[in-house]
Amino acid sequence: MAPAPKRVLVTGAAGQIGYALVPMIARGHLLGPDQPIILHMLDIPPAAESLEGVKMELLDAAYPLLHGIVATTDVTEAFTGVDIAIMVGGFPRKQGMERKEVMGKNVSIYKAQASALAKFASKDVKVVVVANPANTNALVLKASTEGNICPKNITCLTRLDHNRALAQIAERLGVTSKDVKNVIIWGNHSSTQYPDVNHGTVTLADGKEHNIRDAVSDDAWLNDEFIKIVQQRGAAIINKRKLSSALSAASSVCDHVRDWMLGTAEGTWTSMGVVSDGSYGAPAGVVYSFPVTTKDGEWTIQSGMLCHYQSSSDVSNPLGWTAVRQDQDEGDEDEGDGDGGDEDEGHGDGGDEDEGDGDGGDEDEGDRGDEDEGDGDGGDEDEGDGDGGDEDEGDGDGGDEDEGDGHGDGTGRDSAAATHTQHARTPNCANEE
Ligand SMILES: NC(=O)c1ccc[n+]([C@@H]2O[C@H](COP(=O)([O-])OP(=O)(O)OC[C@H]3O[C@@H](n4cnc5c(N)ncnc54)[C@H](O)[C@@H]3O)[C@@H](O)[C@H]2O)c1
Repeated sequence: MAPAPKRVLVTGAAGQIGYALVPMIARGHLLGPDQPIILHMLDIPPAAESLEGVKMELLDAAYPLLHGIVATTDVTEAFTGVDIAIMVGGFPRKQGMERKEVMGKNVSIYKAQASALAKFASKDVKVVVVANPANTNALVLKASTEGNICPKNITCLTRLDHNRALAQIAERLGVTSKDVKNVIIWGNHSSTQYPDVNHGTVTLADGKEHNIRDAVSDDAWLNDEFIKIVQQRGAAIINKRKLSSALSAASSVCDHVRDWMLGTAEGTWTSMGVVSDGSYGAPAGVVYSFPVTTKDGEWTIQSGMLCHYQSSSDVSNPLGWTAVRQDQDEGDEDEGDGDGGDEDEGHGDGGDEDEGDGDGGDEDEGDRGDEDEGDGDGGDEDEGDGDGGDEDEGDGDGGDEDEGDGHGDGTGRDSAAATHTQHARTPNCANEE
């Protein structure tokens, strides 16, 4: 017997990611080929006609898995009963707008939508935030759900960055991306992220798995150009298309949700923006991209890896939290990672609509269309995220005794290998809230 349909919401469904995403969902790329779907699509009134057009096309495509379509500009109708919420809608940054202004508008939107999610969605709704600044929007959403949605159910998309890293390695080695695994995106969906190949492997023509560094055999490229390509891929796409990534973003959303719901393959992890439990020195409570494994709809941060990023070799802070941010900010002429070293500010905080963009003084961040956002969240050692309500999330253990020795050859090649243990973060909402 076919399973009962799942209700899947896409906000901003009339936009370009939405248009690429909804047919993928209807084809079974999100929840598998046997899972019937009732698709909820939300957009704002000015986009109502366009949304109606998308609905007509979905009907015309006669997708067997599509058991119903709700296309609406009404938030309550859109959010009612949904099992999965894919938050793509948001206010785009326009020419002449300050980042702060955009952040303010998005904070308002995400606060209101969080409230609707908390009231009307299924109790166990799983949320992925795509709209930029993705990490911050997820944080605002988490803060605004009034404890009615488990923080572990709120994630943001960094899978696109993860997939970009897989694809770059595959192209370099003349294999397909399915032959490459276990890269990691650390941090935010912005150019401050760290695409890490040090624990990844690739299956070559000899049929054997090789460490990526050994297979590529060009540390200079891996340590510099590769990282920049991945960090700045969004801008590169915008330069070519004059529009931000849409099909790759949509496809990555499907990968993110499918892996979350159906599980990662044995011995494989993916990258997801999740609420930090303090692992790897990322402050507890921020939304941060980690390597995660998933099973039965739960994610677990993969522990035991070293993150040799630039100056970081502090065993108590293997990700070099402060160092990462400072180092990166210096070089980022283009996009406002929003973190700017801020000891200070609230960051997109679930509080004030008009402040806390976490931009820490980056007047110049240049939006380049904001495909990858500067987000300004993830970092700030916690100062005033205003997320009131986070007595909760994570164990804040911040040190992960088992993360390895923090030293190595500087490439991380040998690092974690011996200690890939699962960090026992079994989210327990009852305790957390
Ligand atoms: N995380 C990632 O990897 C990633 C990758 C690419 C793009 N993005 C981000 O995804 C977002 C969407 O990109 P896009 O290219 O589809 O943009 P788009 O402008 O084409 O579409 C956005 C849609 O959202 C709608 N919208 C605006 N406010 C809304 C609201 N309050 N409720 C519901 N819908 C609303 C708009 O009407 C529009 O249809 C952007 O913020 C972009 O920066 C993220």
